[in-house]
Amino acid sequence: MTTATPATTSASTALYAPDEALVRSAHVSGREAYDRLVAEADADHEAYWARLAREYLDWKQPFTQVLDSSQAPFFRWFGDGTLNASYNCLDRNIERGLGKKTALIFEADDGQVTHVSYSDLLERVCRTANALKSLGVKKGDRVVIYIAMSIDGVVAMQACARIGAIHSVVFGGFSAQALRDRIADTGAVLVITADQQARGGKHLPLKAIVDEALMLGGCDSVRNVLVARRTGGAVPFQAPRDLWLADIVAAQSVSCEPEWVEAEHPLFLLYTSGSTGKPKGVQHSTGGYLLHAALTCHWTFDLRPEDVFWCTADIGWVTGHSYITYGPLALGATQVVFEGVPTYPDAGRFWKMIQDHHVTVFYTAPTAIRSLIKAAESNPAVHPSRYDLSSLRILGSVGEPINPAAWEWYHEHVGGRRCPIVDTFWQTETGGHMITPLPGVTPLVPGSCTLPFPGIAAAVVDETGQEMPWGEGGMLVVKRPWPSMIRTIWNDPDRFKKSYFPDEFQGRYYLAGDGAIRDAKTGYFTITGRIDDVLNVSGHRMGTMEIESALVGKTDLVAEAAVVGRPDDTTGEAICAFVVLKRNRPQGEDAKKIAAELRDWVAKEIGPIAKPKDIRFGDNLPKTRSGKIMRRLLRSVAAGEAIKQDISTLENPAILEQLGQTY
Ligand code: PRX
Repeated sequence: MTTATPATTSASTALYAPDEALVRSAHVSGREAYDRLVAEADADHEAYWARLAREYLDWKQPFTQVLDSSQAPFFRWFGDGTLNASYNCLDRNIERGLGKKTALIFEADDGQVTHVSYSDLLERVCRTANALKSLGVKKGDRVVIYIAMSIDGVVAMQACARIGAIHSVVFGGFSAQALRDRIADTGAVLVITADQQARGGKHLPLKAIVDEALMLGGCDSVRNVLVARRTGGAVPFQAPRDLWLADIVAAQSVSCEPEWVEAEHPLFLLYTSGSTGKPKGVQHSTGGYLLHAALTCHWTFDLRPEDVFWCTADIGWVTGHSYITYGPLALGATQVVFEGVPTYPDAGRFWKMIQDHHVTVFYTAPTAIRSLIKAAESNPAVHPSRYDLSSLRILGSVGEPINPAAWEWYHEHVGGRRCPIVDTFWQTETGGHMITPLPGVTPLVPGSCTLPFPGIAAAVVDETGQEMPWGEGGMLVVKRPWPSMIRTIWNDPDRFKKSYFPDEFQGRYYLAGDGAIRDAKTGYFTITGRIDDVLNVSGHRMGTMEIESALVGKTDLVAEAAVVGRPDDTTGEAICAFVVLKRNRPQGEDAKKIAAELRDWVAKEIGPIAKPKDIRFGDNLPKTRSGKIMRRLLRSVAAGEAIKQDISTLENPAILEQLGQTY
């Protein structure tokens, strides 16, 4: 095959043409097919999505209404239709003869492999769904899932969907405090967790953290905690509130009639960071969300019945929702689910797993690629060339910009220059891919997410909503509603409106919160980074405000704190905290000790992923005469750049020198 020979090369960007054979065979075959879909959506947006919703989903009660904009921006899709997400992911595949097909290939941290067929998965989901019902969980109740990557995690999510309960998965790396906040905001009636999680050869607590979270208060809604046994480690247990999942599930029937819900019934809430305030509970629908998860899985990954798909994300993030729990299962695909980390027992783990399971479509984050490049450079034994990766046919990237050097390495050493890389831009709020290459359509440019998914009206505009000419940067917006868009922020509809449909655009455009620029010649999109105070560290999204409030929450020590991001070679962005203490500015060993204490504190308040990489102490923070913290200036200091900003309004220029010192 001759895929991906540079077709044309401009000064700094190569354009890789898709392989002819792939163009012919792909679900979306060639640029003309793409253009036809875009034209179909432009001509009649509603008819386009209605056609796809009928093709990709099975409806109990077919819908007759498509888009209802009467309460915009609270859009409704397929409003009078009813369906069940779990039925669409399990039963209908079995009805189509896929009962014996492997749904999940689960590989544990220690390398143990378990295959779960579609029939087995349905049985497990039904038993768990019945267990939830036996505990009084009903349609519309919220269930928080705090568990590591596991078959139980996928089953728990599907079981909620089966009975119309709304799940809210909390990433297993979040602290008790962060978990408490999410439980309290959702008003969950039940928490599903495991005794412990196994990661990188270590056993880490889960159940003990749930107990701590529940003790922090505000969680009176929780009646039961279901505990999966993973490591067998000793954990605190409080009968009758706590129950072993295996015990209660064993007593249940293996069949459970799905709860047919309206298309707009919330399928899940997932908390994500914004620029202000606490993390927000992004609410997704059942019908529109599932449609886009299935459709994008089919077109972006060109998924076929014989593929072995592997998305390395955690089910605690949206990528794990759309491209593990829902999309691949809705298509009847076989997928790998991995409990561990890419560097254990060594940094060849991903490549070995691709080899062992004959993975054909592999979807991961730039941070993982960058750290595996580093590892392969220092230890040739874990270089991808040492493994047989010939099964691969498509690669994907998600979560943050992929720098061209990492793209080229991924393309050459993992994809053997044969496999197209789909650089998928999207967000927790969008439910699925928004701007992405399609493997049989799009010539690739490293670092660009290329063109909108057919039906997604992405555009780059200025602050008045006027479209920017190609070649000039602006704000990324979506000009028309789409089925898998966020429906609201749980408990905070005003914040939903203000954050995503601001008055500047007369409430018409969805504001993504990212900057973007379109290439002057091709019109390809490149994401230039967040335009708000949201950081992206290793593909994990975090608000600077959240980290600042955690720091100033250490009231015995911290007087003031400002957090900014700075570029980092491996994690994309790194967190840099500027701190003023309630005592004299520390120096030397003393400063190191306090910095370590503050990092531990942030880990306890939010989770280890929020620990600042750099901590800098000052007698004060740089402020204007009116008392505003000069964040732009702090960003330059954090990045170690020469200060180009006008500092004439700076009240106390001498502190810039102090803040240059990192601990
Ligand atoms: O800044 C963009 C970045 O990640 C943000 C969304 O983060 P989250 O909601 O956690 O979802 C991550 C998984 C979809 C976006 O606002 N981002 C995501 N994908 C890309 C990206 N930036 C550049 N290129 C991408 N492919």
